[in-house]
Amino acid sequence: MAIQTVGIVGSGIMGSGIAEVAAKAGHTVVLRSRKQETADAMVAGLEKSLNKQVDKGRLSEEDRDAVLGRVSATDHLGDLADCDLVIESIVEDLAVKKALFAELDDVVKADAILATNTSTLPVVEMAVATKRPEQVVGVHFFNPAPMMSLVEIIAPLTASDATVEAVTAFASACGKDPVQVKDRAGFIVNALLFPYLNNAVRMLENGTASRDDIDSAMKGGCNFPMGPLALLDLVGLDTSLSILDALYAEFADPNYSPAPALRRLVAAGHLGRKSGQGFYDYRK
Ligand SMILES: NC(=O)c1ccc[n+]([C@@H]2O[C@H](COP(=O)([O-])OP(=O)(O)OC[C@H]3O[C@@H](n4cnc5c(N)ncnc54)[C@H](O)[C@@H]3O)[C@@H](O)[C@H]2O)c1
Repeated sequence: MAIQTVGIVGSGIMGSGIAEVAAKAGHTVVLRSRKQETADAMVAGLEKSLNKQVDKGRLSEEDRDAVLGRVSATDHLGDLADCDLVIESIVEDLAVKKALFAELDDVVKADAILATNTSTLPVVEMAVATKRPEQVVGVHFFNPAPMMSLVEIIAPLTASDATVEAVTAFASACGKDPVQVKDRAGFIVNALLFPYLNNAVRMLENGTASRDDIDSAMKGGCNFPMGPLALLDLVGLDTSLSILDALYAEFADPNYSPAPALRRLVAAGHLGRKSGQGFYDYRK
């Protein structure tokens, strides 16, 4: 099945990025947020991002207008009825995601595919919350979605080959480089990345080195574009904590057991860039 119309549920960092990717690739995109103002703000954010690309000469005004013309915003789940693919990118909470999948199952057409952008949670649990488990997969974009080339396609035991292939083809049509991976917490990238990020927090916590020196060391010593603490701020500390909790629940590996400092920052509402404060201060 060729995917033309794409629904995006969730108006956070990732939902907005995926919406931009899909619309720029020529898909009709329906953005759904719980509030119409937030859905409209996503379109405004998309316009701002496209305007920047026009200013830099990377996009023509005509193409910008065409992209915006393909995007609509709504607070009604029912407006996703005609979508070929719906990608949910809401809070990393299994109970909330399962409830959304059950609701989506009742509103989308019979042959629609439902996908989750979860970073770690078991996709099969979302699949069995619907009456179409063979048409449910994970499609894991990376942050920022318009810039990062990787998409992990997660095939739970319940998914049909046709569904996995259709979503892989969708990711390729979006100009991404998809990889296929089994339904295990953290898939490929986060299973390997998060012990490193978590241990950077522990290193800061036990006073081995300062925040700036930890980040400088990993940039200068490993040629990484940003240090681990800056990366945690970009991902979002709440999302990072949920990822580690899910990894620890699955593997019981102490490397995944969240550093207490991370949990305390989240409790304080210091969520990284999105809240203005995390390991760094973004408020100035
Ligand atoms: N941040 C990253 O680097 C990253 C990368 C890849 C995948 N992800 C995954 O993408 C998903 C979204 O992450 P994000 O970084 O965009 O988060 P975010 O905090 O920026 O946005 C979360 C969105 O979920 C909505 N939301 C919160 N509670 C809800 C509820 N009870 N019901 C419905 N919607 C609710 C919020 O309004 C918001 O629109 C998560 O599953 C996360 O694991 C995140």
